[in-house]
Amino acid sequence: MEEKFSIAIDGPAGAGKSTIAKKVARTLEFVYVDTGAMYRAMALYMLRQGYTAAEARRDPQAYEAKASAACQDAKISIEYRDGEQVVLLNGENVNSLIRTEEVSEMASVTSAIPAVRTKLVELQQELAMAQDVVMDGRDIGTVVLPKAQVKVYLTASVEVRAKRRYIENVQKQKAGKDVPAADLDPDKISREIADRDYRDMHREISPLKQAEDAALVDSSDMTIDEVAETILNLYASKKGRPQVITAKTAGFCFGVQKAVDAVYGEALRAARDSSAGPINTFGPIIHNEEVVRDLQDKGVGVIETEEEIDAQQGGTIVIRSHGVPKRLYDKISGSGAKCVDTTCTFVKRIHEIVQKESLAGKKIIIIGNHGHAEVEGTKGWSLTPAAVIETAEEARSLSLDPGTPVCVVAQTTFNGEKFEELVAILQKKSYNVSMNNTICNATRERQSEAREIARRADIMIVIGGKSSSNTAKLYEICKKECNRTCFIQTAADLDLKLDGSERLIGITAGASTPNKIIEEVQKDVRRTDF
Ligand code: DC
Repeated sequence: MEEKFSIAIDGPAGAGKSTIAKKVARTLEFVYVDTGAMYRAMALYMLRQGYTAAEARRDPQAYEAKASAACQDAKISIEYRDGEQVVLLNGENVNSLIRTEEVSEMASVTSAIPAVRTKLVELQQELAMAQDVVMDGRDIGTVVLPKAQVKVYLTASVEVRAKRRYIENVQKQKAGKDVPAADLDPDKISREIADRDYRDMHREISPLKQAEDAALVDSSDMTIDEVAETILNLYASKKGRPQVITAKTAGFCFGVQKAVDAVYGEALRAARDSSAGPINTFGPIIHNEEVVRDLQDKGVGVIETEEEIDAQQGGTIVIRSHGVPKRLYDKISGSGAKCVDTTCTFVKRIHEIVQKESLAGKKIIIIGNHGHAEVEGTKGWSLTPAAVIETAEEARSLSLDPGTPVCVVAQTTFNGEKFEELVAILQKKSYNVSMNNTICNATRERQSEAREIARRADIMIVIGGKSSSNTAKLYEICKKECNRTCFIQTAADLDLKLDGSERLIGITAGASTPNKIIEEVQKDVRRTDF
């Protein structure tokens, strides 16, 4: 039988093990085994038998005797439904009952009992023999799967872990779930985590500790994606595959996320309120066909013309993050439909500058792409005709009277280096120029991170819609640094040919690329063989 691959992730409660293990398993198409859930199910069984954690702690020997006998009647098994692990306690799905602090405490006590461990470790080993697994727990690398090919000890400071658990519980409560008051007390959560760490690390049998051959990962200052990528790269090293680095700045920026969330929010509202009327975005909300299609399925249409604004009876019109000319803004606001304005705050700032400076008599020059929606919108806030400059040639041939007061702004997603180049040309002319580098920070950071990764990468993948100009600029930047740079819209376009010499593959994505697409590409890259 072919040897199965196991990734063992151990660590204290709240280090992010399950979230990360799930993500890694999804990417590699491994089965995720949450062993903590098995101990929790056993703890629930003991609680139902009338025992409490306090009692168990008061007289541990008596509890051990009782629990060793009682656990023989608890049949715990695992099933996968829609890819999710379901824990069955004597046939009952107990997933929704095992995440309270009461069960956590009881699990910590119960998991120290040898008879309980023997029973559950056997089940865990059977699961790992049958398939490739990512298994998380406390003793996976040390006891359950000592031969796991990748072992990770994942930890984080008590403060960070307590904060994460607190936020999780608040979110549960917000989602309408019943959360006991004790689970919403940050100090109590913190104390319990520290106590539980102590118990898990100091119990006699299979205490929580880092296996000698495990990699230590401290997630205190890392995002989930960063930790997952670290583990996936450990796997890649074992398999002799290239490392993969995804830019932290890849994908939706704050403004795009806000705009997309607003439209989904409107769609949800309309689904609940039959009198809400039609919802349309003025232009596609982002340059991504999949998202636009998904919104269409939820009843959100796209309008493109002024006639369509006039024709809309009530309902909602959404102005997207690119913004619109003032004339259209006024028209939509006065149309009788509710106007949801998701213009990015950075773009709004440019509108304000352009309006104010043109009123003061300055000639507005926008450094940006001709015809781009944001540039067209910005033009429409100038009280006098604005000029758009995209190339060095256009900058050189600009001809105004000497001394003309000029105000220069940039499209928020323009290429920073190119902006500098065009500005240098304009500054040589004897105009009275006030310069506003309005390229947004998110774009600046995205471009410099992409450049830095592309410099080191053997292959660079840039993901984004074909009409997304910020993605096109990322491609331009990466191509300069890495000859094997490819521009793809979705994973389906990926045609990766590896010859075994590649050490590093970089991934970045434009501001309108949904996370789901980035994940699909990551998955395909991780699974490509030589
Ligand atoms: O990871 P978790 O919080 O769901 O785990 C619940 C309890 O089970 C915790 O106190 C530690 C214990 N546990 C264990 O002893 N060994 C494992 N492999 C997994 C969890």
